[in-house]
Amino acid sequence: MQRRRILVTSALPYANGPLHLGHIVETIQTDIWVRYQKLRGHECYYVCADDAHGTAIMLKAEQMGITPEEQIAQVKADHEKSYAGFNIGFDNFHSTHSDENQQYSGLIYERLKANGHIATRSVTQAFDPEKNLFLADRYVKGTCPKCKADDQYGDNCEKCGATYSPMDLINPKSAISGATPIEKDSEHFFFKLPEFTDFLKNWTRDGHLQEEVANKLAEWLDGGLKEWDISRDAPYFGFEIPGEPGKYFYVWLDAPIGYMASFKNLCDRTDGLEFDDFWQKDSNAELYHFIGKDIVNFHALFWPAMLTSADFRTPTAVNVHGFLMVNGEKMSKSRGTFINASSYLEHLDPDYLRYYFASKLTNRVDDIDLNLQDFIQKVNSDLVGKLVNIASRTAKFIQKSGGQLSETIADKDLWQQFINAQDVIADGFENREYAKVMREIMALADAANEYIAAKAPWSLAKEEGKEQEVLDICTLGVNMFRVLMTYLKPVVPALAKRAETFLGQPLDWQDNLAFLGKVEINAFKPLLKRVENTQVDAVVETNNKILAEMTGSQKTESKSEQSEENSEFESLAETINFDEFAKVDLRVALIEKAEHVDGAKKLLKLTLDIGFEKRTVFSGIKSAYQPEDLEGKLTVMVANLAPRKMKFGLSEGMVLAAGPGGKDIHLLEPHSGAKPGQRIM
Ligand code: MSP
Ligand code: ZN
Repeated sequence: MQRRRILVTSALPYANGPLHLGHIVETIQTDIWVRYQKLRGHECYYVCADDAHGTAIMLKAEQMGITPEEQIAQVKADHEKSYAGFNIGFDNFHSTHSDENQQYSGLIYERLKANGHIATRSVTQAFDPEKNLFLADRYVKGTCPKCKADDQYGDNCEKCGATYSPMDLINPKSAISGATPIEKDSEHFFFKLPEFTDFLKNWTRDGHLQEEVANKLAEWLDGGLKEWDISRDAPYFGFEIPGEPGKYFYVWLDAPIGYMASFKNLCDRTDGLEFDDFWQKDSNAELYHFIGKDIVNFHALFWPAMLTSADFRTPTAVNVHGFLMVNGEKMSKSRGTFINASSYLEHLDPDYLRYYFASKLTNRVDDIDLNLQDFIQKVNSDLVGKLVNIASRTAKFIQKSGGQLSETIADKDLWQQFINAQDVIADGFENREYAKVMREIMALADAANEYIAAKAPWSLAKEEGKEQEVLDICTLGVNMFRVLMTYLKPVVPALAKRAETFLGQPLDWQDNLAFLGKVEINAFKPLLKRVENTQVDAVVETNNKILAEMTGSQKTESKSEQSEENSEFESLAETINFDEFAKVDLRVALIEKAEHVDGAKKLLKLTLDIGFEKRTVFSGIKSAYQPEDLEGKLTVMVANLAPRKMKFGLSEGMVLAAGPGGKDIHLLEPHSGAKPGQRIM
């Protein structure tokens, strides 16, 4: 067998927040592919990094009162922990804010420039005069000039779909400071992408991309490419452009170079691993990028063009996957389906999700759906009910006969069927047809279980003189389990490790998957627990808590906040039943008296009449109301809340209000006709 040299990457996650299960789809897809290549004995390296530059990260750090360096260090530790939790086997996880990346970004830029592929020209842009900051389109908000919808971004209207430039908005405001932006000129640097049109027309059709991706890019290529703006003005968290003080590389310029930087960092720590062998123009190593469908233009247009100009090799393939949906819909914070990696890991085994995603992944760009009920059902039925079951129902009979496998292959045809499947399964892994591979494996698991059920070793074991037959049947059972676990090893590495302990042998797919006879195996211990509904509920509950804590997470430059849907709303609380709701006794209350409280900055003292009695309530609404505006009005109070002792006296309940605070607090008032003391249901 020819030993291939392969370098593989996943897209670099932004260092401005925790990983969610959408990120994990990508790294699981990549990791399965890498583990498969390693299992087959190829020389394969898997590198990734945090994407640490850009305005979003700079602002996020500022908001948290730390330096960007501190911010990206914290996020990196958090990302690494989540990836490790899912057993993502990176050979290196680096950062784009690194010496190696600065070096290669500078080098590539210098080469592009020397080749005449860099242009400079002046650009007029919205500028925040308070923050002294040029504003990307997404950081300007205002009223749509066409349909007059409020609160629209500076590039297009979410209501009517109109596109425009930020200064066309009616009453434009900086989303960062609230100041009215002005227009300002500045010199920008451009990569002359149109010069690569012919090269890209060929490259995109030359076997490096899925056909549907190539078709999509053909639309761009036929529509005419534009020069790509690769610079940003200070203040910016990134690399200053060599020789251009105050000008920085746009985050997307140095991000893919981060793949090189991470690999370089690995080479510097690894004997015999040479950067040039993988990146020089005539390299015969293979290079694969796994990415989501939202970042195709960066990887399949800009990146190959840059590499070509700078005299490096281009990718062997860019493998594009679709987006993760949860329960058939886009991940959503308000529906509680925007699930963080850490929330999952707190309650569930990573192999469950690795298997589930594998059972859904194809080599097409279709979105994939995580249906939580289907997830529970599939994992329990396939992994526990079919796969592990093969071992658990046969192992004990081997133990009873002394723990050693027999030499006889009890059913040669059946065994051959398991061995013969390896070519189809290998092709499926190689071509990223994981769903098909999982179906093949489960069909074999069904065949194994049918065989065992038909032979019923548990009945034979009660008959005299059948000991050898029982041992032969169960030996075949254990061997079938071993072959299937070998095929599944890239998908469920933790389960595979436990299976190796049970078998007393590494699961190895380099030789011919020989039948294992005349060896001792270890006592069988349960290898995998069933997923319980309560565990999945707990994931959602933990996640809702985390989402509620992550207040208004920072908007980023144009793309990554597509998934930050609805972030101005608090996420929906956990579902309750009517009995739980009915515990809260809400009453109509007349505000008889409202008074300032000496020494209290936020509180008003309310005297409430609820028909059958009077209550005193201290309420934090002073910033929004004058006492005299409240007296004589009806409102709603929680009447059975335990009284609370405060500095200024006893508060006997609370009144209900909406809004974030400050002037934006709005007391509830019932429609006219309601009487003090009436219960609200
Ligand atoms: N930082 C850039 C990538 C730079 S690569 C040189 C970026 N970061 S990201 O954090 O927004 O996304 C990282 C990867 O996760 C991308 O490939 C993206 O497509 C993928 N996903 C992000 N959300 C996703 C889903 N909901 N579903 C599947 N993949 C998703 O883009
Ligand atoms: Zn509009």
